[in-house]
Amino acid sequence: MTRVGVVGLGYWGPKLARNFHELPDTQLAVCCDLDDSRLAHVAELYPEARCQKDFSAVLDSDVEAVCIATPPRTHHRLATQALRAGKHVLVEKPMALCAAEADELVATAEECDRVLMVGHTFVYNPAVAAVKEIVSRGDLGEIYYVNGSRVNLGLFQRDINVAWDLAPHDISILMYVLGMAPVSASARGAAYVQREDNVHDVVYLTLYFPSGVLADVRVSWLDPRKERLYTIVGSKRMLVYDDVATDAKVMIYDKGAEVPPHSDTEAEFRVSYRWGDGVPYPVEWEEPLKAECRHFVDCIRSGAEPRSSGRVGAQVVRVLEAAQASLVNGGGREVVRW
Ligand SMILES: NC(=O)c1ccc[n+]([C@@H]2O[C@H](COP(=O)([O-])OP(=O)(O)OC[C@H]3O[C@@H](n4cnc5c(N)ncnc54)[C@H](O)[C@@H]3O)[C@@H](O)[C@H]2O)c1
Repeated sequence: MTRVGVVGLGYWGPKLARNFHELPDTQLAVCCDLDDSRLAHVAELYPEARCQKDFSAVLDSDVEAVCIATPPRTHHRLATQALRAGKHVLVEKPMALCAAEADELVATAEECDRVLMVGHTFVYNPAVAAVKEIVSRGDLGEIYYVNGSRVNLGLFQRDINVAWDLAPHDISILMYVLGMAPVSASARGAAYVQREDNVHDVVYLTLYFPSGVLADVRVSWLDPRKERLYTIVGSKRMLVYDDVATDAKVMIYDKGAEVPPHSDTEAEFRVSYRWGDGVPYPVEWEEPLKAECRHFVDCIRSGAEPRSSGRVGAQVVRVLEAAQASLVNGGGREVVRW
């Protein structure tokens, strides 16, 4: 049994707690929150867990691993303390609010010889795994461009804008699926609901990859519909991944366009189009957070580097920094500082 503590029991923490409660070889041993009402709620659900208000009680307990689901501004401090207390750490996204703090966390984990993993839940999503499989096999041909949207109404955050809140998912998905990191980023956006504090609630993010792939993602807390939708256009085929769809989450379309190799006259110039059918790609569904929690425990046992390691989390923060610089500079292209 791996004994686990969950810190922060607001919206997300209880989902982590449920998964560690349900996994056969883990024990939800400690839960911690500053808020008594959240503690009482979780104590009722999981009577086996000791509920603590004081984070230092978690550090002093015999748990091997700590999951940190508190607001992002607290991640660096709490994760550092947990690593230094000898705990393996799963910290929520974004792992830190700047690259310097993210790098420091990675260094602390190495120094303490502990696993550091970041909650990039979508890289544990079976539909994303299917997309990676399809792209890596070359079924779509050369990848041209990607268009994504991650929008719904809420949950508004006060201390980070929508890019820092939602785009870690898109950046981690794109890096995982394409197998490379972007070289530069640009972002435009606006703050409507929290105008006075200039907290952007909609951001149009563009990532430029070394192979020439262009990825455009819209993230928003201010949209009437929930969308987690990706289109990937390749030279041979096109793919649509719709995470909100209940049946066919991944569809492959045999559609495309080609220009004939030679055309001397306007009359000879004819783009040939392929209008093939869309075919659903089979996805064996499992709750992504369950797969993430199991992976964390597997890495603790095997010593393997997690798919969403601290190192990857720090890369995501670097891309967010470039996007933030672009937002401030009016949308200009900013180099990611690797
Ligand atoms: N991986 C995902 O898909 C996913 C989804 C949603 C949220 N998240 C992440 O989870 C984290 C928490 O988000 P949320 O929406 O649950 O926030 P929330 O505000 O609903 O909950 C945060 C909780 O942390 C508690 N807290 C704050 N400081 C604390 C401290 N020092 N010690 C103990 N408890 C403390 C608060 O009392 C609150 O109950 C964020 O980093 C967010 O980005 C991840």
